[in-house]
Amino acid sequence: MSNELENLNKININSFQNDLISWFKREQRDLPWRKDQDPYKVWVSEIMLQQTRVDTVIPYFNRFIEWFPTIDDLADADEDKILKAWEGLGYYSRVRNLQSAVREVRETYNGVVPYTPEEISKLKGVGPYTAGAILSIAYGIPEPAVDGNVMRVLSRILSIWEDIARPASRKVFEQAVRKLICHDDPSAFNQALMELGALICTPTSPACLLCPVREHCQAFEEGVQNELPVKTKKTKTRHVQLAAALLVDDRGRFLIHKRPDTGLLANLWEFPNVEIEHPVEGERGHVDELFHTSLGLKIKLGKIIGQVEHVFSHLIWNIKVYVGKINSEYEESCDWKLVSIKEMEQYAFPVPYQKMFKMYLNQEK
Ligand code: ADE
Repeated sequence: MSNELENLNKININSFQNDLISWFKREQRDLPWRKDQDPYKVWVSEIMLQQTRVDTVIPYFNRFIEWFPTIDDLADADEDKILKAWEGLGYYSRVRNLQSAVREVRETYNGVVPYTPEEISKLKGVGPYTAGAILSIAYGIPEPAVDGNVMRVLSRILSIWEDIARPASRKVFEQAVRKLICHDDPSAFNQALMELGALICTPTSPACLLCPVREHCQAFEEGVQNELPVKTKKTKTRHVQLAAALLVDDRGRFLIHKRPDTGLLANLWEFPNVEIEHPVEGERGHVDELFHTSLGLKIKLGKIIGQVEHVFSHLIWNIKVYVGKINSEYEESCDWKLVSIKEMEQYAFPVPYQKMFKMYLNQEK
């Protein structure tokens, strides 16, 4: 056993499993993906829950399952529709990968989500955490499902001082779960660790007095629960200044653009925008010129109606929002369209552009 895990010897594993699982069975939240063990639904929920809070995910999950109740429905869906279903959740490559992966399941595995670690891990977008979550929750296979929350919980219980920001640390925690996991109920065990992280063993001020496994917790015994986990700060976020415009033609339609099919927010729709690389004096003239060059059509920019800030994981966008008019005939194409307010609903826009559109509607009132 590695040095980091020497505290495993101090735990009565049976009693730890019992305390943890019986608490989970009593206190677990009633969540829509816990209604059955359909591997497809477990999979969808786990992909949505990456980087997104439970409260946010619930309505998205319900609607997604309504729109795409089975693997076949998702495999056959148009990309525009799956992006619309994901609109506002962020990290949109998650849903594109999910669709590629269910297509693979249909073609290679006869529509049955694979149940071995080797096969399931080959699917697009299924990393070690998701693989372990599906295998344990849907199939009852004792595999670890270690994400940031589980690392936090276990770093405290076992007093593990590895830096959880280092990708290599996950292996240490997986090794711990392999020793601790309950073979009679791996599903409840893994979900209980997640639930404990969400309800009790929270990042700041953990509720140790309510914790069902306090008597097994090394960090509590040593009084160091607030110092764990060790997590180094990530590198600085980059700031990008943009100008975006709600450009309206003489029939009241808005010009929208489909983003390229790779990179940030791939294939989502946006309003025409330009990056202001070097903010200058007399910015307005500069922005005018940038729009003219990038759009190649006659427009008249009006006033700035506000600013929108959006924080991505490594990037912050600050968008100045302009209104304006299109003064020439416009030839639509597959990635440039003129759409009415009503038609806008059919297109998936990233959150900052949704905010920008709301801002426009509010100032029109
Ligand atoms: N976070 C990640 N997976 C989860 C799950 N299955 N239930 C609740 N929270 C989670």
